[in-house]
Amino acid sequence: MAKVLVTGGTGYIGSHTVVELQKKGHEVVIVDNLSNSNIDVLNGIEKITGVYPLFENIDCVDYVGMDRMFEKHRDIDAIIHFAASKAVGESVEKPLMYYRNNLVSLINLLQLMPVHGVKSFVFSSSCTVYGQPDVLPVTEKTPIKPAMSPYGNTKQISEEIIYDTIHANPSYNGIILRYFNPIGAHPSAHIGELPIGTPNNLLPYITQTAMGLRSELKVFGDDYDTPDGSCIRDYINVVDLAKAHVVALKRLLNIKSKQQVEVYNIGTGKGLSVFEIIHTFEKVNNVKVPHTIVGRREGDIEQIWADASRANEILKWKAAESVEDTLKSAWKWEKALKKQRQQKEKEENEASSN
Ligand code: UFG
Repeated sequence: MAKVLVTGGTGYIGSHTVVELQKKGHEVVIVDNLSNSNIDVLNGIEKITGVYPLFENIDCVDYVGMDRMFEKHRDIDAIIHFAASKAVGESVEKPLMYYRNNLVSLINLLQLMPVHGVKSFVFSSSCTVYGQPDVLPVTEKTPIKPAMSPYGNTKQISEEIIYDTIHANPSYNGIILRYFNPIGAHPSAHIGELPIGTPNNLLPYITQTAMGLRSELKVFGDDYDTPDGSCIRDYINVVDLAKAHVVALKRLLNIKSKQQVEVYNIGTGKGLSVFEIIHTFEKVNNVKVPHTIVGRREGDIEQIWADASRANEILKWKAAESVEDTLKSAWKWEKALKKQRQQKEKEENEASSN
């Protein structure tokens, strides 16, 4: 069993990964500055696994704070680094914030690893590094295209920083996971995606529209060169994605030769259109998702899905959940959020009437 630092561990993918790590008996230390997540997530994790994770409220950009954290939590074996800003549109408006948050955090961690004897590193990358590929599905050898946004650029540069650092340091090893589109929630509905404000991503927009929190979903374009005209993505269940980190960690801890970086696509291998997702969501959950078609969203790529055979063969990892069950989990989570809101309102009303 390992002691694992999970940065961004109260976030969407991070929290699901903490659960899967704890289920395998690993000890987890979460570092998160709660800039895009909520401390209550720790209770959700405890409800599932029975273990309240160690937590430090630190920004990974703070080198001194991170150094102290490593001093306090000694003998960390591995880092899984999620903490990053991730909204494409925001990155266009605030590029320096993105370069600073995403790159300085990474550099700090890589610098602190040898200081504190940490040898293994798992990095959250994205299919965004492929841009619009010429050939589908994409393998890890598919050429990297120029980034479409500062956010995408931070992922490309981060991958290069990791290659160069590990190349220069014989004792390190690392795995870069390129995620496709994570969706869904833990089947218990104790944790899930918690978008702050108006969601950017498709699934939280769908669930909030079905719940009546938004009047209608805007489908960004039906004139793409795809069978139904809407964009195609590879939607991966978030628990399946979380499990990919656990097997990546296992591989790093067992690997004999150091100074190695491996890259894996983490997707289902299947592309689904926006309309297919809407219609399947409506069917499996027996709810309506009012939607209207609007113009294309700037920067969207037309279609992408993964060839995940490398992860299937080497990591022995495969996406297991069906899209139907995943869409059911997303709806169950939205309903759990509604209950939480109602409970909070009730408590606030009671408090104000006392
Ligand atoms: N979409 C809509 N309406 C919405 C939201 C999304 O029609 O309200 C469509 C998009 O146009 C796209 C699909 O749903 O065709 C998926 O969109 P998301 O925003 O959920 O996800 P993206 O494919 O844009 O995001 C992915 C990764 C990001 C990455 C980005 C880079 O999840 O991490 O690609 O392009 F930054």
